[in-house]
Amino acid sequence: MNLKTRRTVRKYTQQPVTDELLNRLLSDAARTQTMGNLQLYSVVVTRDAAMKQRLAPAHFNQPMVAEAPVVLTICADFRRTTDWCLQRDAAPGYDNMLSFMNAATDALLFCQTFCCMAEEIGLGLCFLGTTVYMPQLIIEALQLPQLVFPVATLTVGWPAETPLPTDRLPLESFVHQETYQPYTPERINTFYSPKEELEENRHFVEINSKQTLAQVFTDIRYTKKDNEAMSQNLLNVLYKQGFLKDGDLSNSIMPMIETRPEVLDCDVVRFQNQKEKWVAFVGLMNNRPYEIFTGLMDDEEGISLPKSVTTGRIIKHIDRDGRKRYDFQFENKRGYKTTVEGLSEKFNPEYWNYAKLISGVLRYRMPLDNVIRLVASLQLDSDSINSWKTGVARALKKYIPGATIDATDKSSEEEV
Ligand SMILES: Cc1cc2nc3c(=O)[nH]c(=O)nc-3n(C[C@H](O)[C@H](O)[C@H](O)COP(=O)(O)O)c2cc1C
Repeated sequence: MNLKTRRTVRKYTQQPVTDELLNRLLSDAARTQTMGNLQLYSVVVTRDAAMKQRLAPAHFNQPMVAEAPVVLTICADFRRTTDWCLQRDAAPGYDNMLSFMNAATDALLFCQTFCCMAEEIGLGLCFLGTTVYMPQLIIEALQLPQLVFPVATLTVGWPAETPLPTDRLPLESFVHQETYQPYTPERINTFYSPKEELEENRHFVEINSKQTLAQVFTDIRYTKKDNEAMSQNLLNVLYKQGFLKDGDLSNSIMPMIETRPEVLDCDVVRFQNQKEKWVAFVGLMNNRPYEIFTGLMDDEEGISLPKSVTTGRIIKHIDRDGRKRYDFQFENKRGYKTTVEGLSEKFNPEYWNYAKLISGVLRYRMPLDNVIRLVASLQLDSDSINSWKTGVARALKKYIPGATIDATDKSSEEEV
C-alpha cells in the first residue's frame, strides 16, 4: 500500500465484507507483536443492524456506525488470560492499571495491524476514538465482563468515497535526535503555520467564528470541560471493569495530609434510618472523605438545617483555652452565611467518639471500601448505634464510583 495516499473512509458501498475475508484479516493481524505472547485483546464483530443502532449513541451517532457493513469493537482483555490462570492453578494479578495499559497496548497494536492489512486490500476504515468517551454504553450493549475494556472501534466496508489525503506535520516536528527538543515559539510557527494556512482550516476557523485553528480544538472539538468529565467517567468505568481499585489514585498521587486544615469543604448527606431522620457531614480533601460526623436531625436534640443545604464547610475552632470545636457553616440561597457552632455538642457523644475513630482512619487513607467494611463489622449492641453504622456506611458509599448499596442495608436515602 502506498501510505502517502492512505486516508480515512467514512462512506461505504452495499457490497458485503464476507466472513471469510474478515476472518482472514483478523487471523493474519494476530501475527502482530503481543505482551508475553498472551494476546491481551478481543474483538467483537457487529453486523446486526439493531446492534449497530444500539452502539451508535456511544459514538455520538456518527453515521458510519449504522451505515458500515461491519463494526469492530477492539477490547483490552485480561479476562481470558485470568480465566485460563484460574483454571490452571495459577494466581492471576491482572486487576490493576499496569495490566490495563498492557492489554490496551496489545489491543491497539492488533487494531493497527488489522487496519494496515484491510486498507492494503482496498477496504475503507474509520477509527472511532469515541469508544473511550462513554465506554459504559458499549460495555452494556456488548456484555463485556470485568477485565474487558473497549479501546477502539473500526467501521469497515468497501469505499464509496475517495477523500483527499489529509496534511501531516513535518518530520522534524515530532522526531527528536538524542534528546527532546523544546518547542520554541519559532519552531511552533514553523511547524503549524502551513497547517493553519490550508484553505480548509481557514474555513474551519471562519465557520466556527474563532480567531485561530487551535481555538477550534480547545473551544469546540475537545474542550477542557468535556475532557475532564469524560476523563472522570473513564476512571469510573475502569474501576467498574476491575482495572482500578479504590485508593489506587489517591494513594499514589496525593500526599498524606496529617494536619487538619482549619476549613474543609463538606457534603451534607441526609438519609432515613428506621423512620429517623439523619444527617452526615462529610469533610472532603481533594474530593475524598477526610472526616465524617453523623447524627440525628432533630430541632430538640440534634441539628436542623434548611432542606436546600447540601454543601458547606466544617471549620475547626480552637478557643483561648485550647479547646477544639467543629462548626458547620453554610450559605443560604441569598448568599448569607449561617454557622452551626459545636457539632460535637449537637450529636450523641457516643456517635461523636466513633466518628473521631472513623475520621482518623479516613485521614490516613484507608481505602473507602475497607472503611465501610470496618464500620459494618463493629460489634455494637444498641439499636441506635447500629443505625449509626448503616448511616456512616451509606454516606461513605457515595464516594466509591460504581458502588451499589448492599441489599441488607435497610436505610434509604431520602430527602428529609
Ligand atoms: C484516536 C483516534 C480517534 C478518532 N476518532 C474519530 C472519530 O470519532 N470520528 C471520525 O470520523 N474519525 C476519527 N478518527 C479519524 C481521524 O479523524 C483521522 O485519522 C484524521 O483526521 C486524519 O485523517 P486521515 O486518517 O484521513 O489521514 C480518529 C482517529 C484516531 C487515531
